[in-house]
Amino acid sequence: MTETIYKGDALKLFKRIADHSIDLIIADPPYNLGKDYGNNHDLVGFHEYVRFSNKWLKEAHRVLKPGGTIYVFMGVRFISYLYDILDQKLGMYFNSWITWFYTQGMGKTRGFSPRHEDILMFTKNDNFTFNLDDIRVPQKFYRDRNNMRGANPGNVWEFSHIHYSNKNRKNHPTQKPEGLVERMVLASSNPGDTILDPFAGSGTTLRVCQQLGRHSIGFELNPEYVQIMKERLAEPFPGFDSIDPRMKRIPLDLSDEEYRNAYLENHKRWFLARHDNALKDFHEEVNRIYGTSLPTLKLKRG
Ligand SMILES: C[S@@+](CC[C@H](N)C(=O)[O-])C[C@H]1O[C@@H](n2cnc3c(N)ncnc32)[C@H](O)[C@@H]1O
Repeated sequence: MTETIYKGDALKLFKRIADHSIDLIIADPPYNLGKDYGNNHDLVGFHEYVRFSNKWLKEAHRVLKPGGTIYVFMGVRFISYLYDILDQKLGMYFNSWITWFYTQGMGKTRGFSPRHEDILMFTKNDNFTFNLDDIRVPQKFYRDRNNMRGANPGNVWEFSHIHYSNKNRKNHPTQKPEGLVERMVLASSNPGDTILDPFAGSGTTLRVCQQLGRHSIGFELNPEYVQIMKERLAEPFPGFDSIDPRMKRIPLDLSDEEYRNAYLENHKRWFLARHDNALKDFHEEVNRIYGTSLPTLKLKRG
């Protein structure tokens, strides 16, 4: 797989990308909230920010293949304006408004502490990739009518922030959880596809694509973050740094031992591939519910 990093302003760098050449765009632009990104500051006037959004989204639309998908992270202040651009100005197809929910974050003393950010998912036309089987989450019961391959994860996704105590935490103020980006990449692209992240930051998208067998391209304005990204891509891979807490959920009615053992092996393959660091919690959960321990097996990749 190739990971290509371009240093500079996304608006200029888009010119290097051919029309209809990208399968998936994952964009996490500055939200215009005044974050300090080192050499660039995330606070401009309202109209200037909307103009900037119009420009980069137009380029994103140009480079996407006809069956391509875009995910855009955004805070509440500007999300409706971005929706309007994607829907009305670019004529893209709305698919999902995803809420990224987290339990810890900034505290407010007058008003309610924010505990979500949102992600818009639009496709370029209505014939797009969506690999549901690759992103299912475990069911609570082993009933005939349930699909044991799991359920659709829905549009509220819980992932904790990458805290300073997380071994994978980089020196970047808005690093996103790898588990969250993993779900987008698995759902909306296939191995060998090309994914673009125009505001790549610490390189979360490129790292996830590297591990999932996709080509990736990242743009980033700050040379220090470009360096962080390069180092991150060269590190050994210990498993993704975050996981949906539902992934350790085990059906409560696996009374038949043979079924149970078969299910538990599948569970690791379906839900915990590339999440070696979640295995311990999973084993504890099996033990808590069924009072049996499993041999500590290494995860198979793929
Ligand atoms: C919200 S952060 C992205 C974080 C990233 N998703 C991660 O997980 O680390 C936005 C990034 O866009 C960069 N940036 C801001 N304006 C830019 C521009 N015009 N072109 C390219 N990058 C830009 C900032 O330096 C910052 O690293």
